[in-house]
Amino acid sequence: MGMILDYLGGDHRACDDLFASAEAAVAQKNWDNARSLFDRFQAAMAHHLRMEEDVLFPAFETRTGNTMGPTYVMRTEHEQIRALLQDMARAVLEADHNAYLGLSETLNMLMQQHNLKEENMLYPMSDQVLAADRETLIRSMDAVAR
Ligand SMILES: [Fe+2]
Ligand SMILES: [Fe+2]
Repeated sequence: MGMILDYLGGDHRACDDLFASAEAAVAQKNWDNARSLFDRFQAAMAHHLRMEEDVLFPAFETRTGNTMGPTYVMRTEHEQIRALLQDMARAVLEADHNAYLGLSETLNMLMQQHNLKEENMLYPMSDQVLAADRETLIRSMDAVAR
């Protein structure tokens, strides 16, 4: 039986790989590659955040009756991540190498801390409290439009 921790933790790794590829292309000022890799990274992140916000968080909140706990903190950090992604998209469009690398450093720190909180706390808690619905939830996350 699949675990939420493995499913979403694996998706964190996939997003991290695209992040690193896009950053490497920007560092080399290979803007054609950078644009297409950043687009893929941004789409993968948007999809990941939607799987959490549209499927996992509501299920967790309903099950625990708590909307002001860990999911509230995670939703707030998602907005910070989205804002940074928007600024990075502008930097890619303007081929602004320094702006991009500054923003990507900030995003990387925020994202790593965020992912650790999810992988060490929220996902294991979800695997426990949502044990009976795990398969259905993973199928629903799989069905979220890319
Ligand atoms: Fe998240
Ligand atoms: Fe996540």
